[in-house]
Amino acid sequence: MEAILLVGGKGSRLRPVTEYTPKPMVPTAGVPFLAHQLAKARAAGVTHVVLATSYLAEVFEPYFGDGADLDLRITYIHENEPLGTGGAIRNAADALTCGPDEPVLIFNGDILTGLDIAGLVDSHRAAGADVSLHLTRVEDPSAFGLVPTDETGRVLAFTEKPQRPEEIVTDQVNAGCYVFRRSVIDTIPAGRVVSVERETFPGLLESGAHLHGVVDQTYWLDLGRPAALIQASADLVRGVVRSPALPGKTGEYLVLPGATVEDGAKLSGGTVVGAGSFIAADAVVEGSIVLDGARVEAGAQVRASFVGAGARVGSRTVLDNAVIGDRAEVGEDNELQGGARVWCHSTLPDAAIRFSPKP
Ligand code: GDD
Ligand code: MG
Repeated sequence: MEAILLVGGKGSRLRPVTEYTPKPMVPTAGVPFLAHQLAKARAAGVTHVVLATSYLAEVFEPYFGDGADLDLRITYIHENEPLGTGGAIRNAADALTCGPDEPVLIFNGDILTGLDIAGLVDSHRAAGADVSLHLTRVEDPSAFGLVPTDETGRVLAFTEKPQRPEEIVTDQVNAGCYVFRRSVIDTIPAGRVVSVERETFPGLLESGAHLHGVVDQTYWLDLGRPAALIQASADLVRGVVRSPALPGKTGEYLVLPGATVEDGAKLSGGTVVGAGSFIAADAVVEGSIVLDGARVEAGAQVRASFVGAGARVGSRTVLDNAVIGDRAEVGEDNELQGGARVWCHSTLPDAAIRFSPKP
């Protein structure tokens, strides 16, 4: 089976986490997030993936090459200007080789899911649908595409990011993974910006096409916010969600080769420590991502946080739900929490920000 993976668009940059890395390439559980998605697709029987790229497209190919390491064939299709989700799908379809009736898997590049992809394809075939969509139930559906279905799973409407309360008619949302009949992709207009959510799906419904929704409450996480990326990494390391691309055994932590973790450092909660980084003796790192070449110094406490490549967390500094950008310097005795973001290359002096008296 062939697949199209959407990794472009305006939202694909995760500032200030890392300056030159688009979101799908941010290391999650030790490898670029995209590696998990590609490995999962391969495990579900996908043999050719078309990567639809726009922003910072040049970083994908040097890492994944022709895909041979993943036992995949990867084709890179670049948009000079982002074409929107539908435009990107139409554009990428030029690289597909399958016949008009074949199913094509399409997925958003910022979703971590435990979905049984092969099961979705089977269900698509059994329903004889034009397009099948993985749906998940969420508490607040307003930030997603709303997809009410009838009792047979037939999609009744598609409302992207509803603006008015009366539009919220269901808690079922588009989980960002579809199976399209190839010929349906060819009906998307070429050469212009198209939103699959705002234009293609509503248009298909209007024309009487059969859209089939599969509600599956498996693990599902949208990586829109940095906190979700940290959560995804921790869940992958702990095996809460499985990935064939995890570079090690599941457990409380993953230390990549070339890292130094001094005796007495406490690692837990699915923490990952990147190559060449240093964790001092009595530091605590819980459920966090520490990227390559970073330093967490003596007595520092890092929880549910992201420490960028080459960044420094000074002695006794406490991070709780904080993001430290690449090569930023956080001095000693700081306390950062509640989603605080320290931009790449910035410097925070000793004891500059605290929520308690100075020691
Ligand atoms: N190549 C390319 N070109 N990719 C794009 C473009 C584009 O112009 N625009 C967006 N993408 C990619 C993004 O990189 C992302 O992987 C995916 O398409 C979805 O775009 P987002 O910008 O992340 O959309 P969203 O998160 O607000 O909403 C989407 O995902 C939700 C689930 O997480 C929608 O599909 C919603 O309906 C859905 O509920
Ligand atoms: Mg998104």
